[in-house]
Amino acid sequence: MRTPLLAGNWKLNCTRDEARALAQAIVDGSKNATDREVMIAPTFVSLDVVADVVAGSNVGLGAQDVYWEASGAFTGEVSAPMLKDARCTHAIIGHSERRQFFGETDYTVARKVAAAVENDLSPVVCVGESLDQREAGTTMGVIEKQIAGGLCELPAEHYPKLVIAYEPVWAIGTGKVATPDQAEDVHAHIRKLLETVLTPAAASATRILYGGSVKPDNVDELMTRPNVDGALVGGASLKADDFLRIVNFAS
Ligand code: PGA
Repeated sequence: MRTPLLAGNWKLNCTRDEARALAQAIVDGSKNATDREVMIAPTFVSLDVVADVVAGSNVGLGAQDVYWEASGAFTGEVSAPMLKDARCTHAIIGHSERRQFFGETDYTVARKVAAAVENDLSPVVCVGESLDQREAGTTMGVIEKQIAGGLCELPAEHYPKLVIAYEPVWAIGTGKVATPDQAEDVHAHIRKLLETVLTPAAASATRILYGGSVKPDNVDELMTRPNVDGALVGGASLKADDFLRIVNFAS
């Protein structure tokens, strides 16, 4: 009953011409994927060219971040109303690279989530533990704090827009994918948490994506797990063939 979502996070890659070509290939190759949703997230400067390409297709447009104030003296930031105006449908929030390199905290995630939903953007809220935390056995506690802290300003009427991405930091860009059972364990735990942080109905309706070295050769098995509702893909989303193989995972 949850529609799978396959999302590409392009990170700091692609000129506008490259973005246009990659987006076009993805739109063309996703045409028959009508039982699933697709989203691609280019850099801010390529949003407009990619918006032109995905217009009228079944491919959504995501920003890689969003600021919570609508406008004002906040040099370098881009606001949710501006992203909406640029035709975004989604905003990735709290990616581990933002937490690690740019000071993102659960507090800033919460404010960004609130700003996104007020402007009709689906927030893709990223959570995940580091290798040290996994080895210390604190994974579930880390996730609990990120979920409770990051969603504390999400109004109930906007629960249907929420997407969660579980991305273990040790699996991002490393080629070390979580096993399907490791992913399922954490996804099931997140769904349980959402029952109390949101409501039981919202918990069962919320898509929980897995991210971290998702590739054409591991997506099918990951997607067999009942609580894995899609993927947030970095490296493999930059090659149209690889990403399209992920989009067209065997269901
Ligand atoms: P990766 O990145 O697929 O390159 O591991 C995933 C992500 O950071 O969203």
